[in-house]
Parts: sequence; structure tokens; C-alpha cells
Amino acid sequence: MHMPLTNPTHFNSDLRTPDRLELGVCYYPEQWPCEKWEEDARRMVELGLSWVRIGEFAWAQIEPRRGEFHWAWLDQAIEILGGAGLRVILGTPTAAPPKWLVDLYPEILPVDATGVVRKFGARRHYCFSNRRYRLEAARITEAVARRYGENVHVHAWQTDNEYGDHDTIYSYSSEAQRAFRLWLAERYGSIDELNRAWGTSFWSMRYDSFQEVDLPNSLVEEPSPTHGVDFIRFSSDQVKSFNKAQVDIIRAHSPGRPVTHNFMSQNTDFDHYKVGEDIDVASWDVYPMGGLLNGRLSAKDKERYLRVGDPDQPAFNHDLYRAVGRGRVWVMEQQPGPVNWAGHNQSPADGMVRLWTWLAYAHGVDMVSYFRWRQAPFAQEQFHSGLLLPNSEADQGYFEVAAVMEEMKRLPKGEVRGKAKVAIVLDYESRWATRVLPQGRSYSASAIALDWYSTVARFGADVDFIGQHSDIDGYRLVLAPDLVIAEEAFVDRLARSEAKVVFGARSGSKTKDMHIPEGLPPGPLAKLIDLSVSRVESLPEFHSERVLYGNETYAAGGWRETVRTEETVIASFDGPYRQGSPALVGNDKARYLAVAATGALLDKVIGDALGWAGLECLPDLGDLRVTRRGRLRFAFNFGQAPAEVPAAATAEFLVGNRSLKPVDVAIWTE
Ligand code: GAL
Repeated sequence: MHMPLTNPTHFNSDLRTPDRLELGVCYYPEQWPCEKWEEDARRMVELGLSWVRIGEFAWAQIEPRRGEFHWAWLDQAIEILGGAGLRVILGTPTAAPPKWLVDLYPEILPVDATGVVRKFGARRHYCFSNRRYRLEAARITEAVARRYGENVHVHAWQTDNEYGDHDTIYSYSSEAQRAFRLWLAERYGSIDELNRAWGTSFWSMRYDSFQEVDLPNSLVEEPSPTHGVDFIRFSSDQVKSFNKAQVDIIRAHSPGRPVTHNFMSQNTDFDHYKVGEDIDVASWDVYPMGGLLNGRLSAKDKERYLRVGDPDQPAFNHDLYRAVGRGRVWVMEQQPGPVNWAGHNQSPADGMVRLWTWLAYAHGVDMVSYFRWRQAPFAQEQFHSGLLLPNSEADQGYFEVAAVMEEMKRLPKGEVRGKAKVAIVLDYESRWATRVLPQGRSYSASAIALDWYSTVARFGADVDFIGQHSDIDGYRLVLAPDLVIAEEAFVDRLARSEAKVVFGARSGSKTKDMHIPEGLPPGPLAKLIDLSVSRVESLPEFHSERVLYGNETYAAGGWRETVRTEETVIASFDGPYRQGSPALVGNDKARYLAVAATGALLDKVIGDALGWAGLECLPDLGDLRVTRRGRLRFAFNFGQAPAEVPAAATAEFLVGNRSLKPVDVAIWTE
């Protein structure tokens, strides 16, 4: 059999950052007759695309029966795409185990929290803990990596597809139970230690051995929160090791090619930083229309942003995944028009595909790939648009990509996004802590973090995300909206840094064991700010508290704490219940907010904090967003009216101009 072209010395270049934005597309040769491939490849290149991602669901076409490999079609597809000038990103097909594999080893199927086996017929039907599936995943990864590892056209790899999609991180199978027990034995060393950490003296829950411990599903009441968080920690580690096994195989056969994984918007089901440690570039999938409808905004704002999406949700994720990718981030799937999977699937406004593409570049993304090339006339995603209609005519997204390609020629090359002055802490363990113990139905740490991010963005400041492992040198202001489990080492590093810090409510309120810290919350944060929290309450949506801050009174709701402190009280509660109790306290180094702030109160808290940290900010930008990448400055109008761009008098506009129409982009240098 003829082997594909290889050239082992060709490739180091794709580990570097490209000197300008590159564009690509997701393509499924297995879904189209091969007569179309050449024409498709030619048109992709004609449009200006340089990358094409393929293969991530093609296991059944590669290996239709056990051990029977059909490479010819994939050899040919790669040859045609690569021959036309496209760089191929090859996916490992492990998100879609074929029917014969499921029939041979039904135990690979995941089990949901009610104990029901999730069946074959869609995708992601595997359990991360299943040892047989791990062998099979390694086997197919090895086969594909061996075959194409040094193919001249294969320039990058994607592992699996969207870990976490369709709620597939947590499986309650017997294999998961077995692996969980081993994981617990490793974590705790002795069952006494587990009994202590889980607080099993409560409700007679004590265990005599790790073999007795079950998964925390189908219980009469909620599990011990430590049990709950440990199961998430365990499941997260399973994702990391599953991914790492593939990365190791790919690296062995395909040196010099970057490996990525395509993460999902704001998914916190596993620790993304930990998976990020093992890959070269983080990528994520940008679907802002569904994100809007499922997201944090009021019905009124959803109406206002119906066809443009939440203005801050894509930028938040670009910034987050830049941190996950340790500086390198791609968009693997950019929505090109309406999608099929949300509760409602409105069309983005014409112009949004262009806007989102420039927004990604501005936030440090080096490659944007659109999902998908052509709309599929069959199967699950028939309502999902592509750059082309099902009959191959160019659709709206195609023309917007062409516009980006034209505009790109006007920009200088080699601009790199610099470090921001503001950092926001996003800590996955803390997210799990409030997921397991929300203490209020409407408490949403992800909405709180996005609100904080959005407020900083409206004042025109750029943000980097950090975890507790991250380097914090150089930040002037660190915002920690929900750092529930604060690590001593991180607090010490904050203390030694130059940064001013603002902590949101619940920060420092749990230890690693999910206990209330000795000496009360905020536990280790007391090193930075002298206070203790003696009571917390969650409040229903219909109720709001009043907070007196300066001479103004603000509404706040959802969460309130009673704080005792000798520090300066910057704002206090102003209502019949515990009148005068501190709402925001602080010293020279740190501030602590004892309430869930949104709207005008959050604007005031963040606006003041930016000033306190000596950072310049702009007056509230409303529906405009600005950011910079190297010398390039960008403005994006998410509003319904034209807006004036806050550019200096010396600005030289490369794209657009000072007056920005709705759904439009301006790019300039000063
Ligand atoms: C993503 C997934 C793609 C496709 C897309 C549709 O979550 O990775 O394969 O299903 O959604 O929007």
C-alpha cells in the first residue's frame, strides 16, 4: 500500500506564534463524496484559509471493523487538502467510539447520575475511567499518529473533542467507582484521614476501608461536600490523564507539531489549567448565540443583545484560554451563523462573524477556524449553518471571512498581546466548592466572575486570567470574585506582590477539606485583611438589600455576610437588618466585599478599585468594547446605535474610523 508523504525535518515552525491572524475551517471529508474534496479545498484556499481541521469523529470510517484499517480515503483527503496549500489539524477520533467497539465492550459506556447507561447513537459515549476504553483510545491514537505523524501536510493535532460536552465528565460506572477508591487511597493514605476530612462522624457515615466508599450519586440526601468535591477532583484528574496519554503518543510519532484540545465556553467540570499543562496551544469553541440565551443577563439585556451575544462572554473565554494555553490560544470552532443546539437558535446579525473574528485576534488568538465548511443536509446538525449552504453556495459567513482577509492586509505583522495590569483569579476547585455547596439556588459563581470581568471591560481595561499557580508579577490589581478555597502559598505570594487585591464574598470560606477554616472565614486571607465572617445568608431574587457607599445607596442581592473588622469600612448595609454592618472593608493592600454586587454597586466597587490601583480607566463604554494587541487598538460596537471610538487625536485608523456603526469594528494605532 502506498504510504503518505513524510518529511521529518519540515515542521518546527508551527510551535511558534504566527506573525498575523490565520484562518481555518472544520471539514468532514467522510461526510461528502470524494469528488467534492478537490473543489472544496480549492475554494478554501481561494477564500484565504490556511488551516483545516479534520478527522475528530471519523473512527468508524478509519476502522469500520476491529483491526481493519481503511486509510486510503484519509490519505487522499489529507493529500488533496494539503496539496491545495492547507495545513491539516488532525483530530484523534476518540470522541466517537464506533458501534462494533461498544458491542464488543459495552462496559466502556458512561453511566449517568441516576445509574442509567448512556447508549450508542450520538457521541461522547465513553467513561473516562474505563480501562478498556483507555486501551482502545491509545490504540486508535497510536494508529493514526503512526500513519500521519510525519505527514508533510499534518501540522497540528487535536485530542478528542470538547471534553465535557453533553455532560460527559462524570460517569457513575463500576470502573469509575473502582478508580475513585484508588484515587481516595492515594489522596488520604488512611481511611481515618478520609473519615476526618469528610466529617463522617456526622450522620453515622464512617467507613472502615476505601473499598466501602461509593460514588456520590443516588443518595437520599446530598453527600458530604468533601465527598462531592473529591469526586469532581477525581473526575478532573481522569480527564487530565486520558488527555495526557494521547498527547504522549502523538508527541512520540509527530515531533514538532503543536497539540491542542478544543475546550468549551466557561466549562468548569474539570481543571482546565491542568489539562492545559500538557498541550502546546489551548483552543476553544465560540458559540456566543447559545451562550447569550443560557447566560447571566436579564431578559431585557438578552433582547438587546439577541443577535450580537453577550459582549463579554467571548472575550472572557479568549482571555481565560490564553491562560490555559500558557500564552497560546486558538479558536477551533467559530460559529458562522445560526446553530442548532440551544433552546432557541437565533441568527447572529450580519457582520458578527467578522466582529467575532477580530475580537478573537485582539484578545491574543492566533488562529480562528470556522465550524463548519458546509452545512450538513443530514443527521443531527442540519440546522447548523456553515460557511457554505448545503448546496455549496457561499453563505453570509463566507463573505465576512473574505472581508477579514482583505482587512488583514492593512495591519502590521507581528503584533503580540501584552500582559494586562488587571488579573482575575479563576480557580476551578473554588467553583466546585460552590457547586457542591451553593447555599442558595440562584448563586452562580460563573455569572459573578463574568459580571466582574464585564465591569472591568466597560472601563476599558484589559484582563489576564490567573490561577493560584500563576505568576502574579507585574499586576497592579488582582480581582478574586470567588476564591473560596484560597491556598496559603498563593495568599503569601499576593502579600509579597505589588498588587492591590479585591476579594468577593465567600473568598477563603472553605479549606481544601471543604471545612470552615479555624478562626472563621476568610481563613488565610486574614493575612491580608483583618476580618472575620460570622454569618452568611443567601437571599431570594425578589429581595434586595441596600448598601451605602459614599453618599449613594445601591441595591444588592443574592448573598450577604456579617463581617466583624477593625479595618476601614468603605461601604455598609443600610436597611432594617443589622444596619451599618460592613459591606466593603479594606486597607492599603486588600478589600473584601461582603455582598454579591451587580449593576451600579459593582461598577462603583470595580471603578474605585481601578483608581485605587492607579490604573487609568475610561468612562463607562456602554455597548462599546476596546482592547489592544501590541500597537493595535481595537473597538467593537455591540450596541444598536453608532458610537464614538475613544481614540487619541493622533489615531491612524487601519480599519473603520472614529464613528463606529452597530456590529462594526475599528482598528487603529496611536
Ligand atoms: C461543538 C462540537 C462540534 C459541533 C458544534 C455545533 O460543541 O465540538 O462538533 O457539534 O458544537 O455547534
